[in-house]
Amino acid sequence: MNPDLSRLQPYPFERLARLFAGLTVPAGLTPIALSIGEPRHATPGFITEEIITHLHGLAQYPTTRGRAELREAIAAWLTRRFRLPATSLDPEQHILPVNGTREALFAFAQCVLDRAADPIVLMPNPFYQIYEGAALLGGAAPWFLNTTAATGYRPDFDSVPAAIWSRCQLVYICTPGNPTGAVMGIPELQHLIQLADRHEFVIASDECYSEIYPDEAAPPPGLLQAAATMGRDDFRRCLVFHSLSKRSNAPGMRSGFVAGDARLISDFLRYRTYHGCAMPPATQAASIRAWQDEQHVIDNRTRYREKFTAVLDILSPVLAVRRPDAGFYLWPETPADDCVFASDLLTQQNVSVLPGSYLSRRAAGSNPGENHVRMALVAPLEDCSEAAQRIKSYLASG
Ligand SMILES: Cc1ncc(COP(=O)(O)O)c(C=O)c1O
Repeated sequence: MNPDLSRLQPYPFERLARLFAGLTVPAGLTPIALSIGEPRHATPGFITEEIITHLHGLAQYPTTRGRAELREAIAAWLTRRFRLPATSLDPEQHILPVNGTREALFAFAQCVLDRAADPIVLMPNPFYQIYEGAALLGGAAPWFLNTTAATGYRPDFDSVPAAIWSRCQLVYICTPGNPTGAVMGIPELQHLIQLADRHEFVIASDECYSEIYPDEAAPPPGLLQAAATMGRDDFRRCLVFHSLSKRSNAPGMRSGFVAGDARLISDFLRYRTYHGCAMPPATQAASIRAWQDEQHVIDNRTRYREKFTAVLDILSPVLAVRRPDAGFYLWPETPADDCVFASDLLTQQNVSVLPGSYLSRRAAGSNPGENHVRMALVAPLEDCSEAAQRIKSYLASG
């Protein structure tokens, strides 16, 4: 077996299941899960219908690069959403459909890393665990950048020692961040691009939460936007990863895309041709419609906004919690150890949250996830409000 497999850490939800095993929950209270990391709003009907309509396409093999119409719909969406110069994105060269960002974030590391050169992969800490697994199985060492209140919950790239930069081949960023909800601004993204030129690494920007934000007038910026704003129309060293899972409440569809640097896209296409991960035809058809429609995404944001307002009204007076820049998570500090908080909350109130330390590693002398929990506001408004009331009661009882 590949010995690197043994370096993979248990997934956070496995650890949560172990933490909760054998605990007794109060009989009279229905369970409410704020611990999960997936959207729970209904998939828009027109997306489901499009899948059904195109099931006859099963008789053909799809191509790895996907239909031109899909890449065109994606290019048009990216251009509109991130205000890119009209002709900067060529659907033939700059875009590749993927079966959700998870597989693509993982696979890209396998494609880009040169394991003979003792590579390092930088990533935020806490982080989406796929980045770490991708680095380890790609033969690289992960280097964690703690994102804490002191750094505005964003990675501080100026803290990276020169010896680390010299081995760095890939940097993952997650903006808006999971779990912190922090958004990196254009100047920060541009600074990272300058560092990428200086130290010759590639940036993989996971932007799968980019369409869940509180202010319609202030959508989170993206890496391609930052590149274009500095006149870098070839998006050299930059790749963005987007998904319909959160934007369109379609995590079961497994649809996303990668876009940016044509050279990287071409190499990734070659890799994927061998890997064998073309997007099924019906998924491609439904994805075209989804990327072309914005109304369902606006409606989706309205629902999250209502939930954040309701929950923060209840929790802000009793817990160190802030409204995130974007995304659907709260990342409060806990008054006690995060695992104790999560266990006690379950046994007293039947509400599950994810201990922050399950999403982070010890680095630079501390574990930035400790004494935090992640709460996903994915359940219906009434359930989120009820969960917040129960958390308030739990805190009052302590
Ligand atoms: C930060 C982050 N990136 C990527 C993903 C993967 O999403 P998908 O593969 O559904 O696009 C998730 C899913 O929860 C996530 O939280």
